[in-house]
Amino acid sequence: MTHKILVMPGDGIGPEIVSEATRLLNALRDRFGLDAELEEAPIGGAGYDAAGEPLPAHTLKLAREADAVLLGAVGGPRYDELPWEKRPERGLLAIRSELGLFSNLRPAILYPQLASASALKPEIVGGLDIMILRELTGGAYFGKPRGIDTREDGVRQGYNTIIYSEPEIERIARSGFEIAMKRDRRLCSVDKANVLEVSQLWREVVERVAKEYPDVALSHMYVDNAAMQLVRAPKQFDVIVTENMFGDILSDAAAMLTGSIGMLPSASLDAAGKGMYEPIHGSAPDIAGQGLANPLATLLSVAMMLRYSLDEEAQAARVEAAVGQVLDNGLRTPDIWTHGCDKVGTQEMGQAVVAALSD
Ligand code: NAD
Ligand code: IPM
Ligand code: MN
Repeated sequence: MTHKILVMPGDGIGPEIVSEATRLLNALRDRFGLDAELEEAPIGGAGYDAAGEPLPAHTLKLAREADAVLLGAVGGPRYDELPWEKRPERGLLAIRSELGLFSNLRPAILYPQLASASALKPEIVGGLDIMILRELTGGAYFGKPRGIDTREDGVRQGYNTIIYSEPEIERIARSGFEIAMKRDRRLCSVDKANVLEVSQLWREVVERVAKEYPDVALSHMYVDNAAMQLVRAPKQFDVIVTENMFGDILSDAAAMLTGSIGMLPSASLDAAGKGMYEPIHGSAPDIAGQGLANPLATLLSVAMMLRYSLDEEAQAARVEAAVGQVLDNGLRTPDIWTHGCDKVGTQEMGQAVVAALSD
């Protein structure tokens, strides 16, 4: 059956990195028999420019109809002054919520070739392979009440609500245990249960779900310590499960262990395994339009898409092997460049990965 893939380039470096993903998917189709059909739709600032909305209704419709969705990135200074509901980031949050993509997998894997590009010493990051599982449709991002208003005494105030229901915690905890079962069977739940009631409930529910997974070693860690441990001794972790905002922050930090934020892919899945795939980084306005962006996080997101939503494990492995090959050959975008390597741009990197695809 033909896989229907919706591609949403978005803003900033989004179109540049997504072009490389399209090049890759076309090569898999033409040379390796991947039965896929691509369609493109605007989101974020591009959605606003095209249809006056960061998530145009037509884009959402195509996303619902697709077997999988690939996103570049959204946002940029050009859109920062727009009314709140029109801002690019609202479009991204809306599509995650509309599609029910509560389970966000952010693997932080150090390619051995990039050990010297990591911000940490090789002995601390060598062999790193951790999975950060971020809850994606709850917490402060969506909780109500929220807003900015003026108190009776005339003082303005802003507020958000970190809220999680038991079923929301239960399903992300279950995803965490299921992922841990397929890995090293160690799950660390990260919270702030010493301060927040929402975290107390989180911990209680995670403990309850743990009873169904006696083979998984569960531990709990406060988020401030987890941030410290991630840079002190990241290999102590196998799978980390955490709420939306903690996961956002911890995964950006974990990205630097792998050499660059340009290396971290992600999968955002619903209960049935349908998904949206995107690099964890943003639209990088500081380097947009210059051909400098690292496309590998996006190409590795394509690999995750092939694996998790399209059941094309062999194609996924082919992409990952090609990325490894290109790194072996010494090609580096500026963000992962180290002495003695060949500095290349976005397109050269994408072309090299396509050229390295093999049986
Ligand atoms: P960012 O991730 O866009 O950039 C942070 C830094 O990392 C920048 O110096 C950038 O040049 C660098 N960087 C990011 N991706 C890179 C890549 N592929 N190759 C090389 N370098 C890369 O974060 P920011 O600057 O805080 O945010 C910029 C805009 O992106 C904002 O509008 C923000 O809301 C948006 N954003 C979107 C997403 C998303 O679409 N998923 C994620 C994060 C931020
Ligand atoms: C991410 C981004 C988004 C988030 C923003 C742009 C809404 O930082 O995908 O990590 O906070 O989830
Ligand atoms: Mn983020």
